[in-house]
Amino acid sequence: MTSENADDPDALREMTRDQLVELGGERDEVHVVKTPRAPFAGTKDARWAERSVAAWFALSMLFAVAFVACFVFWPDDYVVPGEPGYGWYAWNTPILGVTFGGTVLALGIGVIAYVKRFFPEETAVQRHSPGPSEPVDRATAVARFAEAGDDTGIARRGLVRRAVLGAAGLAGVAAVVLPLGTFVRNPWRGGEDAALWVTGWRGAPGETVYLRVVTSEPSEIVRVRPGDLAPGAMMAVVPFRESERGDEEALLAAERATDTPVMLIRLPQDTRFTPQPGREDFAYGEYVAFSRICTHLGCPASLYDTQNNTALCPCHQSAFSIAEGAKPVFGPATRALPQLPITVDEEGWFVATGDFPEPVGPAFWEIRSR
Ligand code: FES
Repeated sequence: MTSENADDPDALREMTRDQLVELGGERDEVHVVKTPRAPFAGTKDARWAERSVAAWFALSMLFAVAFVACFVFWPDDYVVPGEPGYGWYAWNTPILGVTFGGTVLALGIGVIAYVKRFFPEETAVQRHSPGPSEPVDRATAVARFAEAGDDTGIARRGLVRRAVLGAAGLAGVAAVVLPLGTFVRNPWRGGEDAALWVTGWRGAPGETVYLRVVTSEPSEIVRVRPGDLAPGAMMAVVPFRESERGDEEALLAAERATDTPVMLIRLPQDTRFTPQPGREDFAYGEYVAFSRICTHLGCPASLYDTQNNTALCPCHQSAFSIAEGAKPVFGPATRALPQLPITVDEEGWFVATGDFPEPVGPAFWEIRSR
């Protein structure tokens, strides 16, 4: 076959694939040198090579199955540190990461191993000319792709082909389960007791939840009274119950919980505080308490600027106007910091009169207040 056939459609149709590949190279001034790398079919080496490649795809399948199983069955409802089941909950994200990462990693290694063991080594040099391709170029390009597919030998190697299809299919399932599963799960399951509604500030009936100062010594109990703060001062506090006195683990857990940190603020003198509707009795005199967890992405928003009476989040510079019920006035946060209802008990200690009226932390598309 020569380049003269390139202009004759009938001659092109009659050409074999090998001839088209050769013609394409000749016309494009492409010089290709191939060196086979695959061991001879049927030999011990070939079987070993196939099995070792298939093993990676099998491993990927195992990881994918484990990922789907963990995603569906592993406990993921929030558990407060120290409560039974916290260990299972805490391992939920790492286990999903390991299994999904293993799926993709083993699949990738399998593909690389297959290419390294079975693809012929090929060196090709081609000149590129501008403008659209001629029909003959397109025909020869298709032939070249088909030949490249044949060169992989995937059609002849049933074990590897099945392993590739299985691993790619299961990895695809895992990739679909991940985004779809988040729509199926209901974080509000559990109604009033759903983890998103409840924090360590919710007391049991008859139980008093005090405001305790966060000190460098977790077992130290320092409760707060009005007068402990000067006007325009802020204090970091966490919940405390008498039942926790002497229980270092419980005291530490209260400090480490992600949704309990609160800033107690004594408003600067002459501040006119405008509470959010329905929260008129949340403050005690000039004392107000707000969650320290930023409603943008959950950083601690507790840099209190007395002069402007704002709480600042150092992560992305959101600012919350304390005098306006901690509503966001600058930055990416769109939701006010949840306010903790407080009062003073008969002994003069600050206590919480209830839990936050809305979820603490980053806002999300289905969040709602009550
Ligand atoms: Fe606070 Fe982004 S986390 S502004």
